Amino acid sequence: MKRFLSGIQPSGLPHLGNWFGAMAMHLELAREGEAYWFIADLHALTTVKDAAKLREMTREVAVSYLAMGLDPERTCFWRQSDVPEVTEVAWLLGTVSGMGLLERGHSYKDKVAQGLTPSVGLFYYPVLMAADIICFDADEVPVGKDQIQHVEFAQDMAGAFDAVYGPTFKRPEWRLSKTPKVSGLDGQKMSKSYGNALWIFEEGKALTKGIGRLPTDSRAPSEPKDPDGMLIFEWLKLLIPADEYEALATRAREGGDKGPGYGELKKRIACAMDELFGAGREERKKLLAHPEHVERVLASGAERARSAARAVRDRAYKACGLR
Ligand code: AMP
Ligand code: TRP
Repeated sequence: MKRFLSGIQPSGLPHLGNWFGAMAMHLELAREGEAYWFIADLHALTTVKDAAKLREMTREVAVSYLAMGLDPERTCFWRQSDVPEVTEVAWLLGTVSGMGLLERGHSYKDKVAQGLTPSVGLFYYPVLMAADIICFDADEVPVGKDQIQHVEFAQDMAGAFDAVYGPTFKRPEWRLSKTPKVSGLDGQKMSKSYGNALWIFEEGKALTKGIGRLPTDSRAPSEPKDPDGMLIFEWLKLLIPADEYEALATRAREGGDKGPGYGELKKRIACAMDELFGAGREERKKLLAHPEHVERVLASGAERARSAARAVRDRAYKACGLR
């Protein structure tokens, strides 16, 4: 059975892009193989410098995954900082990684270009990420496009260590999400920082209002339209069954008195979101009222994760003469 592993940045409430780009795939993979998902709170320290905010966002991610159906019996789910073995292995990897490798990192370069202070931690980020992956003998790492280079770095670092000390680590492969880009309300990639997101746990008026912000043109329902490239149809395609989507797209292409109006399409989006996320919204409220339950799940995940990471750490320590 394949072992999948991925880290989830604690970035707060999930939007439709997070759902289709990452969460849905994570939940699906957990049914296909062994799943190891963790909340990357140590990585988050490179950008979040507010203790209360970090705690809150970490809890929010944990609650979101559990609310949407993550089964902690099947999935090992923990908080990165609860497994210190990973930071020990990161040090080992750092000692065999060339500066030049990290200097090529485009995520680091992008973040600095965006104005983030270039701390040593930000530069070292890919080493910790490589250790995250290598410490669990992961076969495949599901990631967004921007993280592929980091998984390739992990391959390089595992290879570099093995070249010096002999076969020790498993070489991980990356796997790209089937939906790498969901557009936001303004047509750019949906993102928390662009103010263009639609939140999966939003409901009622707030949800309708969010969807209402979706820009449409002034063409009448009867005017034939090409659904390809239209934001409203991009979202519908993700949210409704394929046959229903095809029927709607055909009506739009043909126009006439069966041509769908934007109001009808927006209502369908709201309704589809209620169907998909309604139960999760209720579950989320329950979990928020019982933080001790969430804590228990993470603690038990950390225990399992630690025992897996300890074995790899011991193997690596032995290989390089630390034991
Ligand atoms: P972020 O919220 O940027 O930390 O992203 C968390 C996860 O969601 C990553 O795996 C991203 O690749 C994915 N993701 C974020 N925004 C989008 C989007 N607009 N479309 C598809 N995937 C996304
Ligand atoms: N860097 C990843 C992101 O920004 C999060 C992450 C940390 C991760 N460690 C990982 C992803 C290990 C996959 C494997 O999304």
